[in-house]
Amino acid sequence: MMSSYFVRRVKSGIPGFDELIEGGFPEGTTVLLTGGTGTGKTTFAAQFIYKGADEYGEPGVFVTLEERAKDLRREMRAFGWDFERLEKEGKVAIVDGVSSTVGLPSEERFVLEDRFNMDNFLRYIYRVVKAINAKRLVIDSIPSIAFRLEEERKIREVLLKLNTILLEMGVTTILTTEAPDPAHGKISRYGIEEFIARGVVILDLQERNIELKRYLLIRKMRETRHSMKKYPFEIGPTGVVVYPSGEIY
Ligand SMILES: Nc1ncnc2c1ncn2[C@@H]1O[C@H](COP(=O)(O)OP(=O)(O)O)[C@@H](O)[C@H]1O
Ligand SMILES: [Mg+2]
Repeated sequence: MMSSYFVRRVKSGIPGFDELIEGGFPEGTTVLLTGGTGTGKTTFAAQFIYKGADEYGEPGVFVTLEERAKDLRREMRAFGWDFERLEKEGKVAIVDGVSSTVGLPSEERFVLEDRFNMDNFLRYIYRVVKAINAKRLVIDSIPSIAFRLEEERKIREVLLKLNTILLEMGVTTILTTEAPDPAHGKISRYGIEEFIARGVVILDLQERNIELKRYLLIRKMRETRHSMKKYPFEIGPTGVVVYPSGEIY
């Protein structure tokens, strides 16, 4: 497949995935990663940040709003990923958006306050991105930002502002969101995430021979010729692996 014009590609760090999207995400793009709980969103997004910093020399910021930074680090060690080392080397920053909400003291360097004001939140992300000269950003997840707002319906306003800031920073971003059945209907919780996202990747589970199988679908990727097939993937000892020649019926 050939692009009609030159677009710089950002390697996902997910074996088998980049060949489905002409070599990687278009640089500076925002991708929405959507799926039900346990479909692999956090793992996929963490791999994007880890491999980006470790193998491609692109520093990354991971904003964790669903689990504490230390829990994330521990879980990711199972895949052989030593986030602590990359953090010490200044290649990765994990922003802990959870510890303060449960009233625990945090030894973290980057911590979000319990009740955060959206402008402060966005400014904080901006500062951390600049501090490590990040090229990649993950926010895990959009619904958990919405729950922290005084008025959940303000999420639309926040996402539009976030979009402007992301474009300004020029980072390649993965936003995660949750939708109960993204492959057959609403792909996002608020119905606006997909508008700010220039790409949408759906992770899902499908029953085959009384077993649940993981698959992914690239539903949208601007500036990219991509297939609309469902591709099997696995979460194994080295993280997420996609099988581009596999078939899902
Ligand atoms: N070390 C591991 N090896 C293999 N699979 C794992 C491992 N850790 C978690 N998983 C699988 O990944 C799933 C969780 O993925 P996660 O990325 O947290 O999903 P999500 O963020 O979409 O809820 C688990 O339910 C389990 O099936
Ligand atoms: Mg998750």
